[in-house]
Amino acid sequence: MKAFTDKVAIVTGGSRGIGLAIARALLERGARVAITATSDATLETGAAALEKVSGAGAVLPIRADVRRHEEMEQAIDAVARHFGGLDVLVNNAGVGVFRPVAEMTVEEWHRIIDTNVSGVFYCCRAALPHLRKRDGGWIINISSLSGMNPFPEAAAYCASKAALNAFSEALMQEVRHDGIRVAYVMPGSVRTDFSGRSPGSDDWKLAPEDVARVVMDLIAHPSRSLPSRVEIRPARPPKKG
Ligand SMILES: NC(=O)c1ccc[n+]([C@@H]2O[C@H](COP(=O)([O-])OP(=O)(O)OC[C@H]3O[C@@H](n4cnc5c(N)ncnc54)[C@H](OP(=O)(O)O)[C@@H]3O)[C@@H](O)[C@H]2O)c1
Repeated sequence: MKAFTDKVAIVTGGSRGIGLAIARALLERGARVAITATSDATLETGAAALEKVSGAGAVLPIRADVRRHEEMEQAIDAVARHFGGLDVLVNNAGVGVFRPVAEMTVEEWHRIIDTNVSGVFYCCRAALPHLRKRDGGWIINISSLSGMNPFPEAAAYCASKAALNAFSEALMQEVRHDGIRVAYVMPGSVRTDFSGRSPGSDDWKLAPEDVARVVMDLIAHPSRSLPSRVEIRPARPPKKG
């Protein structure tokens, strides 16, 4: 089970939801893990839950907004200094606002694009020198099936995830020769508080742990192979019509 004892990981948006499940799964396998988020309150709650898994020494919570490139550079450098290097970056932080284009504000548009696209660029750019120092590693981007299957009242979100998919594919081809493997995971509906939604009784949805399992499987792949794109969807969603 402790397959990742030599690994140091950063999970952006690791304070709750899918990111928290990924951080927990990494800790269970022996990795040391930094989580980032913008709210101190959720960061503290998330870190406290994670420390129960591994003890305090293996968890590093950092308040940092992925929309601010200087903040993310400082955060990622701090993680590498604190744990002695970096092996895995999970770009998980993401937001959605779901309303018709005609009603969407310019601020909402920028919040989605700046978080889901520019934020990933900032984190990758800051992490790559550290991954190169280790002669390789993983960048895993949490995208969405919405990036492939656009739907109404979600134009900005779908566009952000389509951009993330293209970014991931291009980056993958750029850095694979350095032993850095890039993959993106496209979940369908997951039971979280995403964008103010209540997880409620949506038992048919994926659990955050299902996405975490995909991420663990990717990292465990032998270094000769690169599964670069994964779709995961609920097995039994409600039938339409
Ligand atoms: N839930 C779904 O159905 C679903 C499906 C497919 C894909 N996804 C993707 O999965 C990822 C995680 O979603 P989730 O459902 O776990 O969402 P969530 O429960 O809302 O958690 C989002 C996490 O991101 C953090 N975050 C938000 N904005 C941030 C920023 N600017 N800088 C740093 N951290 C930030 C949040 O903390 P703070 O609020 O404190 O910053 C929180 O830790 C997202 O990329 C989402 O698009 C979700």
